[in-house]
Amino acid sequence: MKAEEIERVGVVGCGVMGSGIVEVCARAGMDVVFVEATQGLVERGRALVEASTLRAVERGKISEAERQAELGRIRGATSLDELADRQIVIEAATEDAGTKREVFRRLDEVTPPDSVLASNTSSIPIVELASVTKRPDKVLGMHFFNPVPVMGLIELVRAITTSEETVELGRAFGVRLGKTTVESRDRAGFIVNLLLIPYLNGAIRMLEEGFATREDIDTAIHLGLAHPMGPLQLLDLIGLDTAMHVANVLYEEFKEPLFAPPPLLKRMVTAGRLGRKTGRGFYEYET
Ligand code: CAA
Repeated sequence: MKAEEIERVGVVGCGVMGSGIVEVCARAGMDVVFVEATQGLVERGRALVEASTLRAVERGKISEAERQAELGRIRGATSLDELADRQIVIEAATEDAGTKREVFRRLDEVTPPDSVLASNTSSIPIVELASVTKRPDKVLGMHFFNPVPVMGLIELVRAITTSEETVELGRAFGVRLGKTTVESRDRAGFIVNLLLIPYLNGAIRMLEEGFATREDIDTAIHLGLAHPMGPLQLLDLIGLDTAMHVANVLYEEFKEPLFAPPPLLKRMVTAGRLGRKTGRGFYEYET
């Protein structure tokens, strides 16, 4: 199969990342079925896509007619059986190895044998997901960035089992989505998170030690390095629970202290201060 022949895409999970992936696939003209665990979560997923596509209209990226056409190409479902005719499925389910392994086992059963199975995981080895299928050569990582419709990158992750053909398909598929791809080996953190997590941890430690205020840390990076946002603002966007999870996985993999989550991060996660999604992280937000 060639990337230009892909018309039918499946997405598993329609949270922050999944809904963004659904949106960019529909924007590229593909028919998308997404699967969530319950009807309530299907509706929440659809609402996320509706809100984000509305923002795209308001910012002049697409017309209202294009938005309606996009939404018309998207269908939500509660069973993985609905993915039986999909040519590629991108999994963006909860970042839990057991859940993802079960999703891949089921996807291997329900999808045609030549379909490609991708995971948006940022921390679980791709080979672990590939090895529960009978097509490990057709499994790869496709790691998108938040917010997916805005960020231009996909990290392609080649497990030791992934074929060259599958990596090439991933690359060409990324181009169809309007993204640039980079390739990484199947090691925790890939390229971006391996560099990002020590930086974010450093900012938290700086705040914890009273070295500088949250505003000054963020302003310094925003204006001093021309990043669109500072590290504490970025942590609030990513979600402190997600950042802590990735930090733990990196620490497990490499045992380097710079990856270990600082105590303040752990305390904030325990307190439910997860960032934008809970209305409070390093900053406060209107929910
Ligand atoms: N479709 C298409 N375009 C959209 C859109 C949509 N649904 N929603 C917004 N946009 C566009 C807007 O039109 C705007 O484009 P222009 O600049 O051309 O006008 C652009 O996206 C920015 O949108 P906003 O003006 O609404 O937002 P902003 O200017 O306040 O920027 C931000 C917000 C994009 C989040 C920016 O601050 C940013 O880039 N921050 C850094 C994000 C980042 O680093 N993400 C990576 C996180 S790490 C990760 O994801 C990996 C992991 O595993 C942890």
